[in-house]
Amino acid sequence: MKVTTNLEDIIESGLSGSTIFKQQKVLSPDHIPSRLPHREEKIKELSLAFRELTTNMGSTSVRVVVSGPTGTGKTVTTKSFGEALKKRLNERGLRLEYIHANCHSQRTLYLLTMEIASHLKLPIPVRGLSSQEAFKIIHDYLVKRNIHLILTLDEFDYLINTSSYEDIYFLVRLYDELSSASRHISYIFIMRDEQNLYTLDRSIRDHILRNVIRLEPYKSNELKDILMDRVNEAFYPNVVPDETVEYISNLYGHDKGGSGNARLAIEALEVAGKIAEARNSPLVLIEHVKEANSRINVEAGEILDEIPLLDLHLLIMLKALINLHNRLKVDSVPIGKLEKEYAELCAELGEEPRRHTQIYEYVRRMKLMGILETQQSGKGMRGRTTLISLSVPITQDFEDLITKNLRMKLDNREEPV
Ligand SMILES: Nc1ncnc2c1ncn2[C@@H]1O[C@H](COP(=O)(O)OP(=O)(O)O)[C@@H](O)[C@H]1O
Ligand SMILES: [Mg+2]
Repeated sequence: MKVTTNLEDIIESGLSGSTIFKQQKVLSPDHIPSRLPHREEKIKELSLAFRELTTNMGSTSVRVVVSGPTGTGKTVTTKSFGEALKKRLNERGLRLEYIHANCHSQRTLYLLTMEIASHLKLPIPVRGLSSQEAFKIIHDYLVKRNIHLILTLDEFDYLINTSSYEDIYFLVRLYDELSSASRHISYIFIMRDEQNLYTLDRSIRDHILRNVIRLEPYKSNELKDILMDRVNEAFYPNVVPDETVEYISNLYGHDKGGSGNARLAIEALEVAGKIAEARNSPLVLIEHVKEANSRINVEAGEILDEIPLLDLHLLIMLKALINLHNRLKVDSVPIGKLEKEYAELCAELGEEPRRHTQIYEYVRRMKLMGILETQQSGKGMRGRTTLISLSVPITQDFEDLITKNLRMKLDNREEPV
């Protein structure tokens, strides 16, 4: 460990007066840890995919899809890989740039282009140019300077939904569109689910889906290793007992029925630490995790912020899903079953149920928002159906939140005449 870090630790703990946290910022979602336990193999796969670059820079463009549910380390793994590769190649005298763009904020080709230009410190006239023309200027610049750019499009699922077909086509089939003989841009597409590509034209899809690296939800023993690293860096020695870490790992481990989401597991650890501190406990105990967990589930990030913005029928659908979950004690249900439950609930509430195609559209929308997850059942053509589950754990708090919002929307309905 570097001396400077220690110094910062001391100052930070002095300022905060914490007896629990040595360096709480290590627990924040933007922190890039120095190790990524259980993603070594995926990093190796990424390296193999980009191997061609090192031998053939200037004449090859690599495309890789990194997919997996929320909290499986897509962002951190790809970013760490990109930065490390850049460092490595720069040391060898090759000019590589790595840009990690988030399509949530850069949701059009125009915004993406501006982001790249600003990263490369390339002044681009804003007026009078189409995004595609601006993009070409960037490409010319890369060619002239002999720079290769790896552009990661994080949350690419969003771009699919928000950008025009022409722009996506242009981005993805860049080298069919540009007359350039040399190739200076490679892509990493990060997606929750590569099934979302099936809404795109085949000619685009086939261009993207060449090399897919899937990240699976973490198992409890994997989460344990991830959490142990954070415990050692963020907390004072011996403040977090092993059984506390084990408890969190089992709560979120995919093999133990949890979501396998590392982000939530780390957040549980942090919130438990804060609760321990507030209670003047010298140790972070399981009871603190339990309390933390009930809080996180109400706060599960952006998802819950989106609930009050949902239309009435989206809320009815979520309520139907919760009802099925409570009744059948299962996490995911076939879409047909959900549709039936939804229709019954509509009848109860005096609402006209939406049509079949609209239901699919709702599911797709909530999937893009990260509220729902879908999965194909079985491989055979016949019994094949889409299974739907919620991305957040269904707790009493979550159910209350949905019920409350649903009631509010119902109360604001126009009075029937
Ligand atoms: N293998 C790992 N080792 C250490 N930390 C991890 C690992 N995987 C995920 N994390 C941490 O978990 C959180 C969620 O990871 P993230 O990359 O944002 O997931 P995703 O992009 O798939 O939603 C981040 O704080 C990240 O640093
Ligand atoms: Mg991410």
